[in-house]
Amino acid sequence: MEIFKLINDGSKILEKRNISSHKLDSEILLSKALKKDRSRLLLNLNQFVQEKDIENFNALIRRRSQREPIAYILREKEFWSKNFYVCKDALIPRPETELLVENIVKQFKNKNISILDVGTGSGCILLSILSELKNSRGIGIDISQKAIKVAKNNQIKQNLSNRSQFLLRSIDRIYGYKFDLIVSNPPYITQKDYNNLDDDIKKFEPKIALDGGNDGLDVIKKVIYKSKSILKNNGTLAIEIGYGQYKKVSKILKEKKFKTKFLVRDYRENIRCILSTLQK
Ligand SMILES: C[S@@+](CC[C@H](N)C(=O)[O-])C[C@H]1O[C@@H](n2cnc3c(N)ncnc32)[C@H](O)[C@@H]1O
Repeated sequence: MEIFKLINDGSKILEKRNISSHKLDSEILLSKALKKDRSRLLLNLNQFVQEKDIENFNALIRRRSQREPIAYILREKEFWSKNFYVCKDALIPRPETELLVENIVKQFKNKNISILDVGTGSGCILLSILSELKNSRGIGIDISQKAIKVAKNNQIKQNLSNRSQFLLRSIDRIYGYKFDLIVSNPPYITQKDYNNLDDDIKKFEPKIALDGGNDGLDVIKKVIYKSKSILKNNGTLAIEIGYGQYKKVSKILKEKKFKTKFLVRDYRENIRCILSTLQK
């Protein structure tokens, strides 16, 4: 069977499952099955594909039609222009988190700082920041043993084992360190919103990475409370928050004597990250 026919067949199957990116997904999965760039496939649409590759492709289409995210099927996701290893044990890095990284990199360019990444997941935040701040060091923590394994995999992949460390630890249990920067993309979805998430997310991504408790603020609060004692004087706390959480989170920050330094908005003008400093 030819490449164009396979792409169309795969696309139709995915379209029937209401997957809006059906054509693109079919092309990406065929390029995975054939281990060839997507652009090469598109330039050779009439080429015949071997039976064993067709079987592999059909198996990938079946996985996607069950709504498994493309990133888990490919076992990689691009973040901050680098390929990160991902699997169902860690959240798939999101584009909005790149906004957090971008603003931190701007603020700390050429500085030599110590960083704590709380809820590191795949390690994407810490490793991306360290790839830019060449004289800085950092620790990533997570309560998921499986996520720490994913982060360690990426630490090697990004060649950053000499400046990063990943520990299985809850934020409550960090003692004896002081940091210039604490960064976190914590789980912040409310229990109610969690139940309404798309199947792509709810059925495949770890609940522990998304569910922020009743009001979505359980882990955010822990990060703010603990940061008071482990942030250096004038240190920065940078937190990603969910839609509509700004008022509640900024109130907690104020109560704990943090002063807002910078707000990061997404493309729809929603405040998605708060950078604040601790005034002691
Ligand atoms: C939204 S995910 C973020 C993953 C990654 N940093 C990213 O941006 O893609 C939140 C992570 O926080 C972790 N987590 C939840 N509660 C935690 C806690 N008390 N201390 C440390 N990590 C926690 C979860 O296991 C999950 O990996």
